[in-house]
Amino acid sequence: MRIMILGGDGYLGWPTAMHFARRGHDVAVIDNYLRRRIARETDSQALIEANDLPQRCSVFYQLTGREITHIEGDLNDPSVLYEAVRAHQPESIIHYAEQPSAPYSMRGFDEARLTLNNNLNVTFNVIWAVKDLVPDCHIIKLGTMGEYGTPNIDIEEGWLEVEHKGRRDTFLYPRQAGSLYHTTKILDTDLLWFYVRTYGLRVTDLMQGPVYGLSTEESEMDERLLPNFHYDDIFGTVVNRFLVQAVAGIPLTIYGKGGQTRGYLNLRDTLQCVDLAARSPVERGDLRILNQLTETFTVKELADQVARVGNRLGLEVEVQTIPNPRQEAEEHYYNPKYSGLLDLGLQPHYLTDAVVEDMLTRILRYRACIDTNRIMPRVKWSG
Ligand SMILES: NC(=O)c1ccc[n+]([C@@H]2O[C@H](COP(=O)([O-])OP(=O)(O)OC[C@H]3O[C@@H](n4cnc5c(N)ncnc54)[C@H](O)[C@@H]3O)[C@@H](O)[C@H]2O)c1
Repeated sequence: MRIMILGGDGYLGWPTAMHFARRGHDVAVIDNYLRRRIARETDSQALIEANDLPQRCSVFYQLTGREITHIEGDLNDPSVLYEAVRAHQPESIIHYAEQPSAPYSMRGFDEARLTLNNNLNVTFNVIWAVKDLVPDCHIIKLGTMGEYGTPNIDIEEGWLEVEHKGRRDTFLYPRQAGSLYHTTKILDTDLLWFYVRTYGLRVTDLMQGPVYGLSTEESEMDERLLPNFHYDDIFGTVVNRFLVQAVAGIPLTIYGKGGQTRGYLNLRDTLQCVDLAARSPVERGDLRILNQLTETFTVKELADQVARVGNRLGLEVEVQTIPNPRQEAEEHYYNPKYSGLLDLGLQPHYLTDAVVEDMLTRILRYRACIDTNRIMPRVKWSG
C-alpha cells in the first residue's frame, strides 16, 4: 500500500510510520514540527526528545533497509499537501496532524485560535486534496472519545438511531466536548461527514481514548527510534504523567474526585487499530466511526494501580487530590461500546501490573531528565 502519514513526527505518527514501512508498505510522512515548537514555547519539552525526522528515518533505514520518505511542511498550506499527494498517490492517508492538547487550546485567545485554525484547515485541505487528486484514497482520521463527552446514556460507535414522534432515523451520536481542542475534533467529524455525503469520499474516523506507553516492536530495535514521550501538563496523557510522577517521587496528581472515567489503550494497540482500518477500507460514500479503546478506568483507579506497582518497586509513591483545573464531571455514568475494532481483529494489550512495571522500569533510566516544574497544571478552565 502507498500510505501518507500526516503528523509523522508525533507520538503516534512516528511509530505508525515505522510499523507500516517495516511491513513493506511505501510510506511518506509530513510534519511541520508544530508540536515541538509549542513544547518549547510552553516549557513542556518531552522526557525523551526524539531526533528529528531525517535522523530517525536514516537510523531506521540502516536497521531495516526500508525507506520512509519525509517531508517538512505546513499542512495548513494546501499546496504542500497537493504536491505531496500528487507525488505519492496514496491509497490511504492517516491524518494525525493536529494540535492535540486540551490545556493548550484553553490557555488563551492565541492558543485557541491556533488550535481551531490549524485543526480545521488541515482536515479541510486533506478532504480537498483527496477529492481532487485521489478520490479513491481511504482517509483514516484520528478523532477522540472526548467528542462524546460523558453522557448519561450508553455511548454508541458514532451513530444513534432516534425515534421521534413515531418516526425513526440515524444521526451522528450527540457530541459535547469538554475543551476547545475536543470541539475541533467534533467539527472535523462534521466536515468529513458533509464531504462523504456530498462527494462520496471514503473515511474512517477513529474515536481514540488517551494512549499510554513508550515502546513498540520497532522502537525496541534502537533507543534512537523511540517516539517523543511527554509527562508535562500540556501534552502528557494521564497514565504517562502518573508513571513519571511515580519515578520522580512526586505524589500522583488526581484532579478533583478522581471518578472521571475514560477509555484507554496501549500505544501498540493504536498501531494495530490504524493497521486494521487501513487493511479494511470502507466503500466510497461511507463514514465508518470506530471507538478506539480497549478498557475503561477512573483516574483514581489508574493512580492506585501505578502507586501499587511503584511501591512494589520501592519507589514510595503517594497519591494526592488537587483542585480540578478543568470543567468536567468528576463522577458520572460511562459506558462506551467498542466492538468494531475487536470485530476487525484487534488483540488488546491490557494495562496489567506487569505492563505498568515494565513502563516504570524504562522511565527510571530517564529519571535525571525529569523537570518537576512541568508537572502541576498551569492552565485552568474551571469557573
Ligand atoms: N495521544 C493520545 O492519547 C491521543 C488520543 C486521542 C486522539 N489523539 C489524536 O491523535 C493525533 C496524534 O496525536 P499525538 O499524541 O501523536 O500528537 P503529537 O502532537 O505528538 O502529533 C501530532 C503531529 O502533527 C504535527 N502537526 C500538527 N499540525 C500540523 C500542520 N499544520 N502541518 C504539519 N504537521 C502538523 C505536529 O507537529 C505533531 O508532530 C492527534 O490528532 C490527536 O488529537 C491522540
